[in-house]
Amino acid sequence: MKPREIVPDVHYVGAPDFDRRLFDALIPLPDGTSYNAYLVRGRDKTALIDAVEPTMLHVLQAYLKDVTRIDYLISNHTEQDHSGGIPWVLERYPEAQLLSSEPAKPMLVDHLGLDAGKIRTVADGERLELGGKTLRFIYTPWVHWPETMSTYLEEDRILFSCDWFGSHIASTDLFVDGADCILAEAKRYYAEIMMPFRKIVQKNLDKVRDLDIRLIAPSHGPIHRDPRSIVQAYRDWTDDKPHNTVVIPWTTMHGSTALLVERLVAALTARGITVFPFNMASADIGKLAMSLVDAATLIVAAPTVHVGPHPMVLDAVVLANALRPKVRFASIVGSYGWAGKMADAVKGAMPNLKVEFLPPVICKGRPKPSDLEAIDTLADAVAAKHRESGLL
Ligand code: FEO
Repeated sequence: MKPREIVPDVHYVGAPDFDRRLFDALIPLPDGTSYNAYLVRGRDKTALIDAVEPTMLHVLQAYLKDVTRIDYLISNHTEQDHSGGIPWVLERYPEAQLLSSEPAKPMLVDHLGLDAGKIRTVADGERLELGGKTLRFIYTPWVHWPETMSTYLEEDRILFSCDWFGSHIASTDLFVDGADCILAEAKRYYAEIMMPFRKIVQKNLDKVRDLDIRLIAPSHGPIHRDPRSIVQAYRDWTDDKPHNTVVIPWTTMHGSTALLVERLVAALTARGITVFPFNMASADIGKLAMSLVDAATLIVAAPTVHVGPHPMVLDAVVLANALRPKVRFASIVGSYGWAGKMADAVKGAMPNLKVEFLPPVICKGRPKPSDLEAIDTLADAVAAKHRESGLL
């Protein structure tokens, strides 16, 4: 199999994975994914950037079948979907030097059992000459692990960005075709793994702001030929100001919480607010994560199971707490049969969210007219907060 040319002497040697449906046993992959790797050939030296997921190593092996020498193996990120093939590459090309950021070195040892003596660390900003191709290493931590770096090919103005700017898409196309589609998939990916590090992502964006970038070649999904579009999208997603939206993870057991949610969605909509309700019995948590990227308010709606919130809804709260979205306001609605302590448990499950809590609405049994009026009052309170924040 011949490496696929991106520009002269820069080739794609990665692997689309059309069948994968779950990442980290958590993240849905409706469109599969890819594990990208790139071969850069200079006059004097050849470098391989990243080394694919072990389950797809045979694809990298096929691409490299006729490549007789690799001088440098660059590990931008030590997570196994990019580093898993490193032991094989080092065995096949014993002359290759493994290059990584300083913080990546112990992680490569821990995750892959590599000999630390075989790893040469590169400094932030260091250059590597291949002969007519110059690679510059740029530390871009926390996208989404602490050790991640990007590699910039100066002559061709290509940024090999690893996970950031990536998207979980399996495709036979090398380049982005259809910006709207890719931005949705890239947003899903940002939401799932990079949102907790939003402030550091902002700093990384500042760090590459003055680079003259022609192509962004991430480690998942297609290559961006219009870097401004994806960079601007990252600017928007990481911006401190949320949108005029409310996210409602909810479920129902006997219909009471469903009635509260139905009233709440209608009341918020009538007040000019966009609402994203997710019934956790069937929701795609990737879409839930995407909606949290911009939301100003999170309202958790749960029936009570024994004395606590329904576990499916609690899962959503735990996820939101882990993803640390920029939500500013939160509240809880729900119902119970004989024990009304559910709201305290929900509130206690989101300590990472720096939110102002609005009064909850919890009803016993089927909602009464007064409960539905309380929902309208909650919608009024949300609208007032959005208005005060300049969102509405
Ligand atoms: Fe695609 Fe963080 O690995």
